[in-house]
Amino acid sequence: MLSESAKTEIKTLMTKYPDSRSAIMPALHLAQREIGWLPDEAIQDVADLLGLSKTEVNSVATFYTMYAREKPGAHTIFFCADLPCALRGAEDMLEHIEHKLGCKAGQTSADGKITLREAECLGGCNHAPVMLIDGVEHQQDLTIEKIDEILERLKA
Ligand code: FES
Repeated sequence: MLSESAKTEIKTLMTKYPDSRSAIMPALHLAQREIGWLPDEAIQDVADLLGLSKTEVNSVATFYTMYAREKPGAHTIFFCADLPCALRGAEDMLEHIEHKLGCKAGQTSADGKITLREAECLGGCNHAPVMLIDGVEHQQDLTIEKIDEILERLKA
């Protein structure tokens, strides 16, 4: 599943940590960057490379919301659920998005177009609430109206 270059990168990573468990998260990041998500085969590859059990690696991959264990939709929204954004209405906005998409955070809309994921601080607290679209497009100072426009654009 993982390319030879990714496997080499993970082996290099391992030399930077005192034990292979410490390398699980960076290795998963690397695998997700290459594939776009973390299918079972990628989890197995990471486990084999680190000399750990698949269960051990999978427990990390399923604990942290930044790892995608399901194939994402055409677009992925990372919605900040951290405190500064929450203080400016992010929780209600997240519920609104879930309602609009018909899925919960961590899932993909039935039409396969949008995956919704909760995120830790996205670095835009002074313009909270914030979302990141497809890893490149920051949307700040969100309102329900702005969110509706964004969702319509992504669904089109
Ligand atoms: Fe949401 Fe920092 S807490 S961007």
